[in-house]
Amino acid sequence: MPDQTDAKLEKIVALCKRRGFVYQGSEIYGGFAGTWDYGPLGVELRRNVVEAWTKAMTREHENITMIDSSIFTSGKVWQASGHVSGFSDPLVICQGCHNKYRADHLLENIGAVADEKMAEAEINKLFDERRRDLVCPNCGQKNFGRVAAKNLLATATLGMFEESDEPVYLRGETAQGIYINYKNILDSGFYAVPFGVAQIGKVFRNEISPRQFLFRKREFEQMEMQYFVQPQAAPATYEEWKRERMSFYDRLGVAQTKLRWQQHEKMVFYARDAWDIQYEFPFGWNELEGVHYRGDYDLTQHQKFSGVDLSVLDEKTGQRFIPHIVETSVGLDRLILMLLADAYDEDEMGGEKRVVFKLAPNMAPVKAAIFPLLRNKPALVDKAREVYRQIKQTETRLIMFDDNGNIGKRYRRQDEIGTPYCVTIDFQTFEDDTVTVRARDTGEQERVKIVELLTHLN
Ligand code: GAP
Repeated sequence: MPDQTDAKLEKIVALCKRRGFVYQGSEIYGGFAGTWDYGPLGVELRRNVVEAWTKAMTREHENITMIDSSIFTSGKVWQASGHVSGFSDPLVICQGCHNKYRADHLLENIGAVADEKMAEAEINKLFDERRRDLVCPNCGQKNFGRVAAKNLLATATLGMFEESDEPVYLRGETAQGIYINYKNILDSGFYAVPFGVAQIGKVFRNEISPRQFLFRKREFEQMEMQYFVQPQAAPATYEEWKRERMSFYDRLGVAQTKLRWQQHEKMVFYARDAWDIQYEFPFGWNELEGVHYRGDYDLTQHQKFSGVDLSVLDEKTGQRFIPHIVETSVGLDRLILMLLADAYDEDEMGGEKRVVFKLAPNMAPVKAAIFPLLRNKPALVDKAREVYRQIKQTETRLIMFDDNGNIGKRYRRQDEIGTPYCVTIDFQTFEDDTVTVRARDTGEQERVKIVELLTHLN
């Protein structure tokens, strides 16, 4: 992945700050790497994504439920999962300016085929072979130290008061919270294999070089689903989930030419097969979502480490078995970046240049904005407020009232945040109880009766 920030990405970052989607974390203190805070419109956009994902992953299925497990778990969870020993990225430090980099990214930038999953010795060998071509992107020196595998789990001191206390980790994926509760869910009596458990929640990773805005953060949110299935049915189930996940992005209105599948060449330690849905971000093709066939690795490990029997009975054969797991995993923040990049556009309307987020209406943070034609005519303002209140009474999604600046400026502002419709109350409204509805993408305007406005917008 190239290191320079793309111009389009810079524009998106600036717009996100200007209009209240996303702010740099701890900005007034100079920032805190790998963290970004969601502003008022960002929260709305997030909620829309979460709702669409939850509907697609749970409500549209009979046998998929949700849980909300703790961020903190027993340290044993991460020993059993393999993350304590095997979840690392290759760190290399420039001896000149002390900037830290992922060795696989530096190698990739000069066209060398590197992999984050390479063993430490293997990546050091490759790094040494190409050392003379490797330049620090920050200071320009060719002076890197040795590559070291750096564990990604973030540690904490929660409940640790003595030296001998077990190390504590913040969760590195939401999946483990599902595995350690899988027996509880089965025991509730409502579910039987095959069934799925989904979870949305915060995840923490000590990323060496968090970058590209929401793409690689240290604190981020995952939306994961673990599907527990009979071993013999797992390969077909895996293919079904791959199809289903790609169709989800189609339904979100994402350009299909910007999505593709990529199989992992080197499998992460828990996976038997792994494919990524990649999106063509402003900085190139990159992983958006992972669909993994994890086999019986996770449940077998937790059974071994906890001593609790995690097998289930096959009623037909009378044999006990450990279910296999098919996982779908996407970062909410990365998905939001993808939606923003996909929707960002610069065009001309009425002879004027404009910036517009062409978000699908179900993703747009503000569903409609209501204006009085003129802000200095109390009768227009009162009528506009009346229409606004009327719509808000029945509409649970965000409707905005806006009388700031002239109408042209309001249109530009709403275009920038992706509002699909602007509704203007003007003098004709007093004559025939109609308003003007202007569509974001075409600029076309039509007169709609106030009594039909909500139906029209929906
Ligand atoms: N449970 C499997 C798992 O965690 P992963 O490939 O490490 O697999 C899954 O992560 C997804 O989480 C990725 O496809 C990406 O969307 C998101 N993700 C991973 N690291 C991220 C980071 N540092 N910042 C934002 N999103 C991230």
